[in-house]
Amino acid sequence: MSLTNKEKLQEINFFNKKMFKKFAAERKRRIPSEEYQVSMRNCENVLEIEDLHTFFYTEIGTVRAVDGVTINIERGKTVGIVGESGCGKSVTSLSIMRLLHEPHGQIADGQIKFNSEKGAVDLVKLPPKKMDAIRGREISMIFQEPMTTLNPVFTIGKQLDEVLKYHNTEKYSTKEITKRSLDMLNTVEIANAKTVYRMYPHEISGGMRQRVVIAMALICGPKLIIADEPTTALDVTIQAQILDLMRSLKQKTSAAIMLITHDLGVIAEIADYVVVMYAGRVVEQGEVHEIFHNPCHPYTIGLMRSRPDNTSGERLYSIPGNVPNPVNLPDHCFFRNRCEKSVKACAGKYPPFFMVSPTQKSACYLQTGKPTEDRAAEKGPAE
Ligand SMILES: Nc1ncnc2c1ncn2[C@@H]1O[C@H](COP(=O)(O)OP(=O)(O)O)[C@@H](O)[C@H]1O
Ligand SMILES: [Mg+2]
Repeated sequence: MSLTNKEKLQEINFFNKKMFKKFAAERKRRIPSEEYQVSMRNCENVLEIEDLHTFFYTEIGTVRAVDGVTINIERGKTVGIVGESGCGKSVTSLSIMRLLHEPHGQIADGQIKFNSEKGAVDLVKLPPKKMDAIRGREISMIFQEPMTTLNPVFTIGKQLDEVLKYHNTEKYSTKEITKRSLDMLNTVEIANAKTVYRMYPHEISGGMRQRVVIAMALICGPKLIIADEPTTALDVTIQAQILDLMRSLKQKTSAAIMLITHDLGVIAEIADYVVVMYAGRVVEQGEVHEIFHNPCHPYTIGLMRSRPDNTSGERLYSIPGNVPNPVNLPDHCFFRNRCEKSVKACAGKYPPFFMVSPTQKSACYLQTGKPTEDRAAEKGPAE
């Protein structure tokens, strides 16, 4: 007997309520340090995301926005996360920062291991106070739209000072804080730093605002900077300037950068390693030259062909169809319906990763290399 829409909705609401209760109880629990103190798989890594599942419990069902993602970021390296809109890039970054819209958005399973100054911790389990000490200081974030970060009613200087005051572990005096804010404005190549320090966000241009936001992200000397589409909201000439700035900062800071973008051009300019996401999963990853010179997953190949700077002379390609909404997706390759190369095996179980090289792997049955076991295809989280 099939359920009516009303019954389906009731069933989903009942399930969501049950999940909210479960997560609320977990939040109230006093978590012993043994649970969040972990060891890194590789001490060279600053971040190890392992089999992360982040879901939104909505009225249309459970949106599996991030569905078993594993990403490592090595100290000082830049990892580019690329994929079309809606593939789970921002939700991955919000999970790391623990800034999901609760109660609907929840990390349902997995670990986010961060090699913090005070030892390696699992950010998923970390008590809120300890997370506050890391967020903005050891891990900072640059958002797409600078005005969402800046407060229109305070001067640039006050806002920069505030970041340092909040995390004042070095015990800077007020004078030293001001000096450091001015230094940061110089670092992000703002020429008239003293004037800008006294200005309000609306008095400076969009490009300048994004420079200020980058200064804010750098001011506490973080180990990891997450930049979520840092150039997308800017116009083309400014985009190029901010990219130049980010490239030069890469040399100046020792921070690792997680660079999220839908623009492969940006990735080519800055990233050392590339992770390609599709519908909440990683479909291919490898060193930047591998992904650009030997893309293996049909989705990555499609993204490469749809670059506006594609010099092949052929008409600009666009991948047919859209990223599916990750609700109740069947357990075979999510890209299958849009894929021009799909074969019989693609209708079977979701593909594991196949090694293309020691550093490159692709989750596609067209690949003939050795399959690996680190894909959590079969292992969904409980409930
Ligand atoms: N607050 C939310 N409620 C429900 N679904 C959401 C929410 N935020 C994001 N999603 C869904 O999660 C998926 C991934 O979104 P997102 O990470 O923002 O994509 P992008 O790769 O463009 O950054 C999308 O299907 C999106 O619709
Ligand atoms: Mg996004």
